[in-house]
Amino acid sequence: MTRKVLTGNTVTRRSFLIAGAVMATGLNLGTVQRARSQSGRPLGRAKMDIDQFVHDCISAHQETDPQAAVLEVLRRAVQEPGAVIAALGEPTEAGIRVLHRSETLTIFNATWTPQMNLMPHNHLMWANIGIYTGREDNILWHKTPESIEAVGAKALFERDVVALPPDAIHSVTNPLPRFTGGIHIYGGDFFDTTRSQWNPETRAEEPSDGAVIRAIFDRENDRMQRERDRG
Ligand SMILES: [Fe+2]
Repeated sequence: MTRKVLTGNTVTRRSFLIAGAVMATGLNLGTVQRARSQSGRPLGRAKMDIDQFVHDCISAHQETDPQAAVLEVLRRAVQEPGAVIAALGEPTEAGIRVLHRSETLTIFNATWTPQMNLMPHNHLMWANIGIYTGREDNILWHKTPESIEAVGAKALFERDVVALPPDAIHSVTNPLPRFTGGIHIYGGDFFDTTRSQWNPETRAEEPSDGAVIRAIFDRENDRMQRERDRG
């Protein structure tokens, strides 16, 4: 099975190697950070056991209501954001790091650059999102005969989780001047499903796939690099 890691041009190979190392070493995700998080909160000594977390999600997924059961596992995990950061590291780039992928369950760590936007898109499978650092603003959309219209919003802060149904359409913004990090879990193979996205200005429906999303992450990382270069 091809493992797809969506991240910037400059880090694609490194992230791929990290993902490979994760699978090869029992999900030992590297150095524990002992400093303070971006929010200034001490990280503490606890470190999330990613291997156990993935195992717990797979077990929960066997229950009668898989999405609700997996959501509780995710909710418990993000209640200790310092422990999650100790395991996954402080986000420093836009990217998606795959923690688990099967035909019925996908788990990844998604990080947004400051003020990053993702246009309206669907998943075509249930989705649970938990935020462990930063903030993620969701606009929720409904499909209309012609296009889509905004029907709600949900701001997710650190420790918040949300469960989205299979027919959900959302757009995502990190409104903060720092990175946002979340754990995203889907009830299917996220990377092997052809979905839709909607142009953020015209709201025209377009096909969405890994290449399109990868280009967005590349653009964001390039933008961040230019800002760093400007100093
Ligand atoms: Fe999404």
